[in-house]
Amino acid sequence: MDISLAPRSRAKRLAPFWVVGYQLAPWGIEKMQWLSRLKRRLGRLRQWPGRLKQWPGHLKKLARDMRPTVDYFTGRMTAPGWLYLEFVNTCNADCIFCAYRYDPRPKLTLSLQRVVEAAKQFRALGGRNIGLSPVLGETFVDRDALTKIAALKEEGFDWIHTYTNASLLHKFGAKEVLRSGLTNLRLSLPPLDEALYRKIYQNNNYRRVRDNVRDLLIAFDSTEDKTVKDISIEFRSDRPLEACQALPDYLEYVAPHINDHVQVGAMTVFDSWSGTIKPDDLLPGMTLLSGDSKGSKRVPCGRIFTLQVLSDGHIRQCGCRVDTTAEKDELTIGHIDEMSLEEAFRSKRARANVASFVAGKPLDVCKKCAWYSPEV
Ligand SMILES: C[S@@+](CC[C@H](N)C(=O)[O-])C[C@H]1O[C@@H](n2cnc3c(N)ncnc32)[C@H](O)[C@@H]1O
Ligand code: SF4
Ligand code: SF4
Repeated sequence: MDISLAPRSRAKRLAPFWVVGYQLAPWGIEKMQWLSRLKRRLGRLRQWPGRLKQWPGHLKKLARDMRPTVDYFTGRMTAPGWLYLEFVNTCNADCIFCAYRYDPRPKLTLSLQRVVEAAKQFRALGGRNIGLSPVLGETFVDRDALTKIAALKEEGFDWIHTYTNASLLHKFGAKEVLRSGLTNLRLSLPPLDEALYRKIYQNNNYRRVRDNVRDLLIAFDSTEDKTVKDISIEFRSDRPLEACQALPDYLEYVAPHINDHVQVGAMTVFDSWSGTIKPDDLLPGMTLLSGDSKGSKRVPCGRIFTLQVLSDGHIRQCGCRVDTTAEKDELTIGHIDEMSLEEAFRSKRARANVASFVAGKPLDVCKKCAWYSPEV
């Protein structure tokens, strides 16, 4: 017997099984994959009763979110929720997180006549809320800011607010600002430290700003006939609120004057102004959000239902964001000298811009915007 041939003949005998096994292996693997897919699907099916229970909640939320859009297209929304008036598009700071330095527009001031015209039209439509924050600029660069605010007060609005970097309040006087007709004042500040101020606001106005904030808070306590009901101090910060509140200048200049009508907050997350601001522009501790972080944006942004009159008289939707690199501002509708606010609000262009969200094709500026919010 040739023993050396035994293994080979055994292999020969097993060969057909190897061949069949080899042929069947893919089928087996496929079957196993199919089975595990089936198992996964059954698992998901088991979650359905729970999911179905959540549906009324989802539908309710969708109905709530879509309400302004339905009201807008059916004409039930008779006026923009807010009218923003950009008194000036000039600023005396150059914040590292802000697109101001990239704004190509000529520096202009909105005339008192246009302010009054816009205010009257807005009141006639039933508008109640005015915002004075420039899209890019500082309200109190306008020497006539208080005259214009007084004219707005005459029209009888419920709410008139502005954001300000607080660096020019001394030019008007704290008490005068508090009595001006403004109802809310929002101070955008760096954490109260001189070196940080220089890094973030990129100028040397720190001591002036710090003193202005203290003087404003002291006057807020003592001015009986003030129109400003609330002040918010909003740190544009590289650190959380508690760390801002632990800084020596905060403890000395702000903390003693806090009361129920003075709110304090800190923001460490920033919008990129359509990609204009880059992560490298910011300090460690500050985060940049991109437009993609907000999901599908199928529900129109609440700010698309606001109108703004820019310093040159143009009317645009959204009082909040702009793409300074765009050839043309997609949100601009027309000019206050050529069309009324109502015409702008109801225009084909404005309607198409609102509808673009629902169609899943928001304007570029909105697509790139991290400040998108369905809340009106
Ligand atoms: C454009 S500023 C105009 C008003 C004024 N100059 C001021 O700074 O308060 C309006 C608000 O936008 C904020 N802001 C500027 N750039 C921002 C960004 N990248 N992300 C979030 N908020 C920003 C400012 O801090 C301010 O509170
Ligand atoms: S955030 Fe305000 S203060 Fe700072 S540069 Fe922009 S407009 Fe000026
Ligand atoms: S998504 Fe941004 S740019 Fe568009 S309307 Fe809203 S805030 Fe304005």
